[in-house]
Amino acid sequence: MNIITDLKILDRDHLETPHVQRARGSGNGKKVYIETYGCQMNVSDSEIVASVLLEHGYSITTRPEEADVVLLNTCAIREHAEQKVRARLNVFRARKRREHLQIGVLGCMAERLRHKLLEQEQLVDVVAGPDAYRDLPRLLDVAEESGQAAVNVQLSREETYADIAPVRYASNGISAFVSIMRGCNNMCSFCVVPFTRGRERSRPVTSILAECAALVEAGYKEVTVLGQNVNSYRYEQDGHIVSFAELLYRISLISPELRVRYSTSHPKDCSDELLHVHRERPNVCNYIHLPVQSGSTRVLQRMRRTYTREEYLALIERVRTIIPDVSLSTDIIAGFCGETEEDHQETLSLMEEVRFDMAYMFAYSERPDTYAARKYRDDVPEAVKKRRLSEIIALQQQISLENNRQEIGRVHTILVEGPSRRSEEQFCGRTDTNKMVVFDRQHFQPGQYIRVRITDCTSATLFGEPLGVTTLAEEARTISHALNT
Ligand code: 5AD
Ligand code: SF4
Repeated sequence: MNIITDLKILDRDHLETPHVQRARGSGNGKKVYIETYGCQMNVSDSEIVASVLLEHGYSITTRPEEADVVLLNTCAIREHAEQKVRARLNVFRARKRREHLQIGVLGCMAERLRHKLLEQEQLVDVVAGPDAYRDLPRLLDVAEESGQAAVNVQLSREETYADIAPVRYASNGISAFVSIMRGCNNMCSFCVVPFTRGRERSRPVTSILAECAALVEAGYKEVTVLGQNVNSYRYEQDGHIVSFAELLYRISLISPELRVRYSTSHPKDCSDELLHVHRERPNVCNYIHLPVQSGSTRVLQRMRRTYTREEYLALIERVRTIIPDVSLSTDIIAGFCGETEEDHQETLSLMEEVRFDMAYMFAYSERPDTYAARKYRDDVPEAVKKRRLSEIIALQQQISLENNRQEIGRVHTILVEGPSRRSEEQFCGRTDTNKMVVFDRQHFQPGQYIRVRITDCTSATLFGEPLGVTTLAEEARTISHALNT
């Protein structure tokens, strides 16, 4: 494996054909195509899978049609995600009938679907759970030699892949994910994650700092540190417990030009210490994702979220007092078991009160083995869930638009990411507060920080006029000067 002290950052540029082969092994140059579903954590895991396979003589391709091995890194969070993966598996299975192809299912669907996939449908060659990626080369060999499916869905209490340098094969070379912990101990009643990803464990501080430093060295300008619940990160080092706030602080000291973000957090663990890190460190972005899930205390209790509506609102007030220009986003579930019309109205009123800049909004879908699946009836009719969800989405769009309109005329520092989705002539990049801005590309380059005056907006995007190149250090000086005069 790549040892972290010798950590090399490989990204897409390094992987263009001829395909990179870093070691001799069982892969013999076979081309692997990895398709990733679900959250950022899965994107990060796929980069670990790529690293493990490259180390064993495989190569990575971004073109499925030329692959010898297709790996689907799956998500089980909602039923819809699972259906998408199944449809995709059918496409690859049709190809497997015509030519030699190994198919693997990785990640969150692995444990639950192994019986179905293997025994009933005989769809796949390899099944590997989120803690079994080091074993993938062996599983692929066993499957090849035996002609039978090879499975490892064992969850671990220790695995953090700390010593594996992720291969950022689909990266833009500017922004990277860095995993700092795995698993979740929270047991929210609707959520399958504790079952698919196992117990919480934190990655050693030194390996996280080394990876972030290597990214800076390789020219990256932004890291998003990842975990199912980053706020509960804790790692004992030299007799002292390093909290998430301290870890973030230390990452932010690596370079003043590195923007630091994180995802995702649980409101119950959002400490004042963490909020002060946002306030004090100019390169820790003023953006926090705080999933509320519902605005009704009764529903929150049934969800086992461990906070009330009032406690959540008090937290938001604290956040806004300590970090005045903070931008907030959230997750909301519509139609959880037993949710009444009144509960739903409370969610809408909480949204009005907080006025999130952005939200990820979902209809509840029952997940096997969860507390909700075992104890409650999924009793909100589908049509009612859909209607409530569309009311939530409509309200959020209106609030996002109103919040974005207030940005018109303001100047933001953005990190240029590259061409916008609509046109090569336009570039896009995010503000510190995580809002996407589109502007004329002119002579600007991806990876630069530039100042932009906001001129227009939709509910999802800001449009701006570029004012010139800057640095984060320069912006921090300007802000502290303005505060002191
Ligand atoms: N149904 C709908 N949404 C869910 N989420 C998690 N589990 C479910 C479920 N069973 C949502 C939550 C969580 C986000 C990642 O996915 O809002 O914060
Ligand atoms: Fe799931 Fe709750 Fe853990 Fe988030 S905090 S991963 S919603 S159990």
